[in-house]
Amino acid sequence: MVQELSSSYGTPLYVYFERIIRERARSVLGIFNGINIFPTFACKANNNPNLLRILKEEGFGTDIVTLGEYYASKLAEIPDERIVWNGNGKSLKEMSLLSKVRYINVDSIEELERWKDVASKFDNIPELFLRINPDVDSKTHPYISTGLKKNKFGIPIEMVERALKIVKTSNLELVGFHIHIGSQITDVDPFYEALGQTVELSKSYGFRKINIGGGWGINYKDKELNLSKYREEIIPLLKDFEEVVLEIGRYIIGPAGVLILKVEYVKKTDAKTFVVVDGGMNVLIRPAMYGAFHGVRVFSSECDEKVEVDVVGPLCESGDVLATQRMLEIPKEGSYILIENAGAYGYAMASNYNSTLKPAEVLIAENKEPKLIRRRETYDDLFRTIV
Ligand code: LLP
Repeated sequence: MVQELSSSYGTPLYVYFERIIRERARSVLGIFNGINIFPTFACKANNNPNLLRILKEEGFGTDIVTLGEYYASKLAEIPDERIVWNGNGKSLKEMSLLSKVRYINVDSIEELERWKDVASKFDNIPELFLRINPDVDSKTHPYISTGLKKNKFGIPIEMVERALKIVKTSNLELVGFHIHIGSQITDVDPFYEALGQTVELSKSYGFRKINIGGGWGINYKDKELNLSKYREEIIPLLKDFEEVVLEIGRYIIGPAGVLILKVEYVKKTDAKTFVVVDGGMNVLIRPAMYGAFHGVRVFSSECDEKVEVDVVGPLCESGDVLATQRMLEIPKEGSYILIENAGAYGYAMASNYNSTLKPAEVLIAENKEPKLIRRRETYDDLFRTIV
């Protein structure tokens, strides 16, 4: 299959599996049995409208951060009333264009003041959630931790009173608190700690809605979020709410996507063996940016013996790595390797660095032929904005 897909569509190539997307979407919803859930998919993880459409069929709206993500949602025909808008830097232009979505998560007192100012100018300001920074360590990579006081997101609990005073003197409608303490969290305890505080706070102010964010960790290497523990410990905390908003990205789409690359060379020096493939940090930046681990599979090797290799891309940076110090069979030149768990924050974070072209995306639909869902960029695409 890897060989066929690569010859039909070229490499680097992102491939997604519809069956996995649907299964994971259903298992997320299954956890919330008995709770009135408002599920959204965080389309920062993957903005391909063809995939958003599948998630729409599974009952998911979208969590957007930008007008671009709103545009992706519209291409997938996600109605405004299924969209939640997040962000710590909402501009006045965005506010005027996006004030029609279902919910808005307010990140700061300053943003609240801005909403208060513009409230009279826009026909309708939707229901607001206030993002709390519970100062909880989510024990994930520091770049994707968001719930510590030193992180830029949300307001500390001590400032909630001030925020509520602003709301009282306005015609804004605040309906609850929002938390999102980070991404790729594999431990239930930080969720419990942060949510416990937020639930208590919500109850003390009589809020009937809550937004619990996303952040569920997947198994890149050897650990993932324990869903039955999550169900046992977290779900009971949510029982009394009229509505629970969820913003989940990686957990659904991460394991549903892989990245196929072609081996150009196997370069051996007296220090190391490098497997040089035809895409690197331009197509998947997570290993370079966070030191993230992604499993690598070799399909066609010279022999079965495993040796320590670095899998590297073709770009002009030493940091252009996909995997380091990995015990792998040496692949044959011209053969293909596959990077696992590449569905989330893969294509979405791809760049044109070194004037490379962004890859194509293919969907393996249930019981159907593979389908191209985003074509590979061309050099015309690359320079179409030049004037
Ligand atoms: N809600 C908010 C407010 C968020 O900031 C995020 C992710 C999510 C929901 C969805 O989180 P998820 O369920 O996907 O963990 N680029 C990084 C991840 C950044 C996550 C940003 N916020 C990575 O590649 O690991």
